Amino acid sequence: MNKKTIRDIDIRGKKVLVRVDFNVPLSSKNPDDHITVTDDTRIQAAMPTLNYLLEHGAALILCSHLGRPKSDADKQYAMNPVARRLSELIDRPVQKMDEVVGESVTAAVSQMKPGDIILLENTRFHPGEKKNDPQLSRQLAALADVYVNDAFGSAHRAHASTEGVARAMRAKGGPAVAGFLMEKELTALGTAVTNPPHPYIAIMGGAKISDKIKLIENLLQKADKILIGGGMANTFLKAQGHHMGKSLVEQDALDEAKRLLHLAGNRLLLPVDLVVADQFAADAHAEIVEVWGVPPESMALDIGPNTLEQFYLELQGARLVVWNGPMGVFEFDQFAQGTNKLALLLAELVETGTQVIIGGGDSAAAVTKAGLADKMSHVSTGGGASLELLEGKTLPGIAVLDDKA
Ligand code: 3PG
Repeated sequence: MNKKTIRDIDIRGKKVLVRVDFNVPLSSKNPDDHITVTDDTRIQAAMPTLNYLLEHGAALILCSHLGRPKSDADKQYAMNPVARRLSELIDRPVQKMDEVVGESVTAAVSQMKPGDIILLENTRFHPGEKKNDPQLSRQLAALADVYVNDAFGSAHRAHASTEGVARAMRAKGGPAVAGFLMEKELTALGTAVTNPPHPYIAIMGGAKISDKIKLIENLLQKADKILIGGGMANTFLKAQGHHMGKSLVEQDALDEAKRLLHLAGNRLLLPVDLVVADQFAADAHAEIVEVWGVPPESMALDIGPNTLEQFYLELQGARLVVWNGPMGVFEFDQFAQGTNKLALLLAELVETGTQVIIGGGDSAAAVTKAGLADKMSHVSTGGGASLELLEGKTLPGIAVLDDKA
C-alpha cells in the first residue's frame, strides 16, 4: 500500500480524529427501546488502531455514521449503543457527544488529555456529511492535529468525514493517514486486484446481476474462472434458454447476461442443479432439480449438490479464491446448504494453503453465521467498498490520504 499509516507519523500528545466504520446492526429501530449492538465485528476490527493510538499517547476523537438516517430526528440511529459497546471492549470511559460538531464538542475536545476518548454523534445527523460540505470538513479537521481513516467500509463514500476532512487536515498542515484495518483490507483485497496468484477463482452470488456487471467484467480480466450461484445465476440460466419457473430473474439484465456469457466462454460456470421450492418461505416444500427441469410453479432458492461437487473440483489447486455473495437464501436453514457447504469447503482449502478472501456484506454474514469466519484468510468488513475495489475503482476515502514518500 502506498499510503502512509499511523506507523509513519508522530502521535504522542496529539489529538487524533479517527473515522471508523461503526455502522453496526442494532437490536431495535424504536428510539424508546434500550437499543444494543447485535454484532460488534466492526467495532472489534477497529481495536488494533485504537489501542495503538492510545498506547502511543494520543487522545481519540472518533466519528462514524450509523444507518441511513434522514436527519438528526431519526434518534434510533444515535451513537449511544455504540459508545456503550466500545467502552466495554476498550475498557475505558467513552464520552459520547450529542452533536457532530459545535460548541459542546469544541469545549469537550479542549479539555482532552492523552488516553481520553470522545465519540461524536452520528455523522449523518449533520446535513453536510453526505454533501461532503467543506465547512463541516473544516470543522471536523479543526478538532484534531491528525486525521486517521480506518473506515474501510465507508471508503467508497466521498463524504465530509471520509474525504473532505482529509483535505481540510492537509490544508492546515496536519497528516491524513490510514489506520491498521484500512491497511489490512487494502493488502488483502489489493492482492486480488493488482497481482493475483494463479489459479485465481472468483465465486459470485447474491440476488442481482445488475449490481455486479462491472465486477464480473473486471474479474474476467483477472480470474481464471468465475463460479456463479445465488439469485443472479437464474438470470444467466434464463439467458441460456432455461425455463426458470417463478424464480427471481432480472428481465432487464438478460442482454447483459448474454453478453457476459459470450465474453467469458467456458470460464464462467453456472449451477447444474438447484434446490427449488413452491414458495419463498422457511418451511416451503423443497426439492432438487436439474437446471433444465425447473417446474413452472417453482422458484430456485439454492444451488444443488451436483453444482457443489462441480465447484469443489474447480476449486482444487486454486491459490486465490475471492467469494462475494451467498449461493442461496441462507437466512432460511433449508436453503443455506449451498452457502454453508461452500464455506466449509473454503475453510478446508485455507488449511491446504489457498488464500481465501470473503468480500464483505452478505457473504461475510453467511460465513460468520456458519461459525467459519476465523477459518478464512480474510473476511472484509466492507460490503459496497470491497465490491467497488474489486471492480477496479479508486475509493475516494483512500485516494485522498497522504502518499508514502
Ligand atoms: C456499509 O455498511 O456498507 C458501510 O457502512 C456504508 O454504509 P452506506 O451504504 O449506508 O454508505
